Amino acid sequence: MDERIRLALSQYRYEKALKFLATANEILEKGDTDTAANRAYYAVFYAMLSVTALDGFESSKHSGVISYFNHHYVKTGIFSREISDMITDTSIQRDRADYKNFYTTPNDKAQEQIHNAENVIRIVRPYLESSWARIKQSLPSAIFTRTSTRQFTPEKVESKYIIKILRAAMAAPSAKNQQPWEFWVSDDHEINERLSQASPYATPAKNAPVVIVPCYRTNELAVPEMVHIDMAICAENILLEAEELGLGAVMLGIAPLEDRMNYVAEVLKLPENFKPFMIIPIGHPANKRPQEDRYEPAKIHTL
Ligand SMILES: Cc1cc2nc3c(=O)[nH]c(=O)nc-3n(C[C@H](O)[C@H](O)[C@H](O)COP(=O)(O)O)c2cc1C
Repeated sequence: MDERIRLALSQYRYEKALKFLATANEILEKGDTDTAANRAYYAVFYAMLSVTALDGFESSKHSGVISYFNHHYVKTGIFSREISDMITDTSIQRDRADYKNFYTTPNDKAQEQIHNAENVIRIVRPYLESSWARIKQSLPSAIFTRTSTRQFTPEKVESKYIIKILRAAMAAPSAKNQQPWEFWVSDDHEINERLSQASPYATPAKNAPVVIVPCYRTNELAVPEMVHIDMAICAENILLEAEELGLGAVMLGIAPLEDRMNYVAEVLKLPENFKPFMIIPIGHPANKRPQEDRYEPAKIHTL
């Protein structure tokens, strides 16, 4: 598994652990001790997964994750024995809460679950942070790892990643800072299918979990002649940020070809004063290849 994807996965799972912990607390306040015990266990489980993701380890079995974690992280002394006990306790208590007949988790047990989850998260955090920092330092810039992704896994792209990508898009330079862009974002399979027919080369839009169509306004432009240049830079920012996040994307050319532009404008029902620039499917890459080295000294003319 690509190192950037491991990093993204580890961070994603850590955030999920925090989310489960917050939910466990909220649910306990409402008095549902069984569900609180379950959510607290999931906080522990995801904290473990955030660590094991760094090795590229994947297992759908909880017991598999626990034994991998114990073997590689407790027996080796990376984490103390105490974390292993907390993991075992939360797992046993979660099993009782979920499966034991005529049983309701006592309030103090639910609180203990949450306390254990907080501790597990507290213990793994410094390890995660230093691992993340080390990976980030060792990663080459996204400029040198990005390749076009045309096939995606069915996994959804979380909206917070889309927001990060759009933030990067809007960080682009533009002529006289005219910022001509607005973005149409679709996770609607039917719309994406129609977008994939915008040109003979647009098929990657078909099975992408999300498609961004950067568009530009045609009015109130300080330098209308430069608008396509602005949009191209903005599109590249989208691809680079997707790469940074461990996602994949590809540019599907639309502008300046009138027939493609009219087709996409119709599919998206764009307002009169907007034109589509490009179609950019985004998702988790089904496969990843290394970037080819295109550096050619012969193309440089030194004066
Ligand atoms: C303006 C532009 C239009 C493109 N249009 C398409 C397209 O319609 N379909 C497609 O599959 N790829 C499209 N691409 C992606 C290129 O094929 C790809 O960038 C190129 O082959 C280099 O590969 P790489 O992106 O993996 O480095 C386009 C790229 C650019 C910059």
